[in-house]
Amino acid sequence: MRLLLGVTGGIAAYKACELTSLAMKAGYAVQVIMTAHATRFVGPVTFEGLTGRPVMTDTFEGAGAGGIDHIELAKWATVACVAPATANVLAKLACGLADDALTTVFMALRRGTPCVLAPAMNTEMWLHPVTQRNVGWLGELDRYSFVAPTAKRLACGDEGVGALADPIDILAAIQARTPPA
Ligand SMILES: Cc1cc2nc3c(=O)[nH]c(=O)nc-3n(C[C@H](O)[C@H](O)[C@H](O)COP(=O)(O)O)c2cc1C
Repeated sequence: MRLLLGVTGGIAAYKACELTSLAMKAGYAVQVIMTAHATRFVGPVTFEGLTGRPVMTDTFEGAGAGGIDHIELAKWATVACVAPATANVLAKLACGLADDALTTVFMALRRGTPCVLAPAMNTEMWLHPVTQRNVGWLGELDRYSFVAPTAKRLACGDEGVGALADPIDILAAIQARTPPA
């Protein structure tokens, strides 16, 4: 079982460390890809320590010189997840943009590779009609499924929906979509 875990630039990025740890204990090999903004919240070295694998943050780093190849990585995955998924990355996935390592690899995933998205953001960002449209549109595609954000007092101080789902629930969603070996 090979899990490709995308981590994006939200306050809940630290919870992706717990998800990584849970997935490793559940028997997944985990490869992490971070956006540049995600690295402002959590250091790649944390994920490297948890997974034993180098984290991909830059499409061009080491390209053609033995670095991580984005197409090989996309082929490697049996299941993929983005947690937390920012409003920005949801919009990029909905538009098919591939302008950084994470979105490039996720666009290159094989057609049968399931992809679990766990959004987390401020309530207004989540309820924004464009975000809701993007989530609705992505959810209509076979490859994407969502673990909905939960309601609570958010890091920004607002009360409402937008908190990352519990990592245990995200792992359960990943396991439910992992193809049999
Ligand atoms: C302290 C802080 C917390 C943030 N939390 C979130 C968040 O939870 N969700 C979100 O969508 N954006 C959040 N943002 C904004 C994103 O970091 C910003 O949209 C960024 O461009 C996302 O980049 P990425 O999607 O490539 O990681 C936060 C920004 C800051 C400074």
